[in-house]
Amino acid sequence: MVVAVEAASLRRLRPRNSRPAWRPHGDLLERAQQTAIFKRGNVEIWRGDALRFYPAWTSPTVIISDGPYGVSGFPGDPPTAEHLPEIYEPHIEAWGHAALPSTTLWFWNTELGWATVHPTLVKHGWEYRSCHIWNKGSGHVAGNANTKTLRKFPVITEVCVQYVRMVTLPAPGAPRPLALREWLRHEWARTGLPFSKTNEACGVRNAATRKYFTKDHLWYFPPAEAFEQLARYANRHGHRIGRPYFSIDGNRSVTGQEWDSLRAKFECRFGVHNVWNEPPVRNGERIKSGPRAVHLNQKPLSLVKLAIEVSSDPGDVVWEPFGGMCTGALAALQTQRSCFAAERVPEFFDLACDRLATSDG
Ligand SMILES: C[S@@+](CC[C@H](N)C(=O)[O-])C[C@H]1O[C@@H](n2cnc3c(N)ncnc32)[C@H](O)[C@@H]1O
Repeated sequence: MVVAVEAASLRRLRPRNSRPAWRPHGDLLERAQQTAIFKRGNVEIWRGDALRFYPAWTSPTVIISDGPYGVSGFPGDPPTAEHLPEIYEPHIEAWGHAALPSTTLWFWNTELGWATVHPTLVKHGWEYRSCHIWNKGSGHVAGNANTKTLRKFPVITEVCVQYVRMVTLPAPGAPRPLALREWLRHEWARTGLPFSKTNEACGVRNAATRKYFTKDHLWYFPPAEAFEQLARYANRHGHRIGRPYFSIDGNRSVTGQEWDSLRAKFECRFGVHNVWNEPPVRNGERIKSGPRAVHLNQKPLSLVKLAIEVSSDPGDVVWEPFGGMCTGALAALQTQRSCFAAERVPEFFDLACDRLATSDG
């Protein structure tokens, strides 16, 4: 089973005592310490600090992170980006413990916020995949154009950065667990067969050596069928003593389906690229209190839905630790995913619950 594959990545997080060092809005946040849970179908919004909730949540296939930006955007958001790593680190560590090999993290932030936090993500086993630019369009220049004083061009973008897990597997005789690409080579080397035989195993002229066993950046993850062909061939023709090959538990080879679950889900959509042209949220979608928008950082439902749909299947679990108006929870509801969201400011929590309760499912 995949659960046996990478114990570290599947282990649930131990309850933690540590908190982010930077907590300037203590009073307001303390009021949120009494947990409340709002539920609609399989979608839940929890009131309070997400850090307290992770151990109770089911492992996610998708994490939508839209937390502090370092722009004083909401209570608890520091004024500059320099504190972001210390604020995010306990969350990032917890996500790493809870994540599956198939989990994708979508990390929203400003360009500088992301750059500042990126090393912390890498430190905790998150592998950069791609940076998506949310282009809000030139309409967003209005109110953002004090450029003579600021001496820079107006900013009309945010980023949503895709990360996946750095998956490693135990390998007999190797000094440490190996990344998938290394593990494939290691297992084949153990058979005593030349690498050219991987082509014969897969019934191809040279594609297996060129794609699945290359050491360079052009490496391809073998599809389930090719993986099973390799394992079958290795177990039939490789040294008797080393069998089974391509095994994690030493008793049997990994199945094609299990192999497939060792990488993040991703459905490539035709016509979608890494620039997401979408105006800021407005009109009926924007949650307001009287005439004023409640939350400056509310994300377009369409973009959050896109991220969820391409990286998970119906029934999978989404986490939205920094809920705000809980766009991720609503997107999960509307795409038949389960969701655990958290929001620690009681007023935001109440509005997000109303939104989830009254929106189309
Ligand atoms: C940028 S906003 C999220 C906006 C959201 N994506 C939307 O579309 O409405 C971040 C929110 O996370 C909340 N927050 C920050 N740290 C939190 C934590 N540790 N636990 C729960 N909520 C948190 C803030 O109160 C804020 O409302």
